[in-house]
Amino acid sequence: MSFAEISFTELRAVGKPLNASQNQKDIVVDSLGERVRGDFPILRDGALCYLDTASSAQKPEKVIECMSSLYERGYANIHRGVYDLSASATERYEAVRSLVKDFLSAKSVQEIIFTRGCTEAINLVAYSWGLSNLGAGDEVLTTTLEHHSNFVPWQRICEIRGASFRCVGLDAVGRLDLNDMRSKLSSKTKLVALTHLSNALGVKTPLAEVVAMVREQSDALILLDASQSAAHERLDVQSLGVDFLAFSGHKIYGPSGVGVLYGRREVLEEMPPFLCGGDMIRSVSIEGTEYADLPAKFEAGTPPIAAVIGLGAAIEYLNELSFDAIQEHERALMDLLETAIGEVSGARMLGPAGERKGLVTFTLEGVHPHDLAQFLASKGVAVRAGHHCAQPLMKHLAVSSTTRASLGLYSTESDVRRLAQALEDSLRFFLRR
Ligand SMILES: Cc1ncc(COP(=O)(O)O)c(C=O)c1O
Repeated sequence: MSFAEISFTELRAVGKPLNASQNQKDIVVDSLGERVRGDFPILRDGALCYLDTASSAQKPEKVIECMSSLYERGYANIHRGVYDLSASATERYEAVRSLVKDFLSAKSVQEIIFTRGCTEAINLVAYSWGLSNLGAGDEVLTTTLEHHSNFVPWQRICEIRGASFRCVGLDAVGRLDLNDMRSKLSSKTKLVALTHLSNALGVKTPLAEVVAMVREQSDALILLDASQSAAHERLDVQSLGVDFLAFSGHKIYGPSGVGVLYGRREVLEEMPPFLCGGDMIRSVSIEGTEYADLPAKFEAGTPPIAAVIGLGAAIEYLNELSFDAIQEHERALMDLLETAIGEVSGARMLGPAGERKGLVTFTLEGVHPHDLAQFLASKGVAVRAGHHCAQPLMKHLAVSSTTRASLGLYSTESDVRRLAQALEDSLRFFLRR
């Protein structure tokens, strides 16, 4: 009997041993995916088995409806017009800033900058702060676990400014090597840029320990890439104790084209603008330009108005569901997912067992990840294959690419079962097993 054919309760028995009350709780929790599925138009007919949420999440009707009604009846440019339509679009845009401030427990709306995505948010810090604060003898410390978005901008800025780019190593399964970090931190370290949750392994950074170590051994600023974690847990920038935090709207069930940079106000105040143009100025003359106050100083040009307003709808949606419920649901499904993949002959899961969050990255002996992903696609199962924009990590793990299945709040037991069945089928197809 294959994994895909056995019942949910039997599946639990295949995985970690659970007592009766845990089993019951998991079954109740699993109903979250079933309950919210109807909120997502693309998932309603059950044809799509979407296991690529770590790449980009599907959108609930609330977000789609909010954006289309804005375009139909409420759209105008913001911060410029004196007519009602522009004033109300401005009000809605700025209301989202307040919502994001509360979502991240930031101290003020001046600390919330809208960007076009996480990548742009990190580049904003690299080019604005980095160009004016880094020089020869300074060091930027990042990690081998990073998405290229939090790696390449720092390499580039260090190259431009003649600073040193350093990288914290990992243990054999991909956890941060804290001893290596300790040995690389010093008074020369000016910024530490690291991920909260790895997009390639699902391994979480022990952030409290890292922040304490950085504060003890240097005066470095800390930038947290929260692209992955923002979809799975409530983030509180004050208790996280970081100076910058970045994420993208599309990974938290909002639209693409919008991201958020949180920056501690005192740090942002000192930073020069990144992009220059309309809306980020107080006055312009041939003799010189005076820049606007925060947050406008960092929002040059017409912003992604509809995307910001759509992001607000996504945050409201998450707030209505609660992160406690989402986490419990995803944790239960993760157990199932790890069990399902572990049952497939020749499958090797990467990353630390039992510590993965939201996704499983794996290889299948004798089958190239791209071929596997294509075969799964032919069965209606959407997963990601490749280097996951984490080539330094792939090199550390001695693989060139992997297959990744990732969960969202709408994922269900049936999605996991369909993946399991398709993996079994792939063995027959590729290996004649
Ligand atoms: C950990 C991590 N950081 C950064 C990014 C970049 O996000 P975006 O492409 O939305 O700018 C991603 C996207 O996959 C990611 O997973």
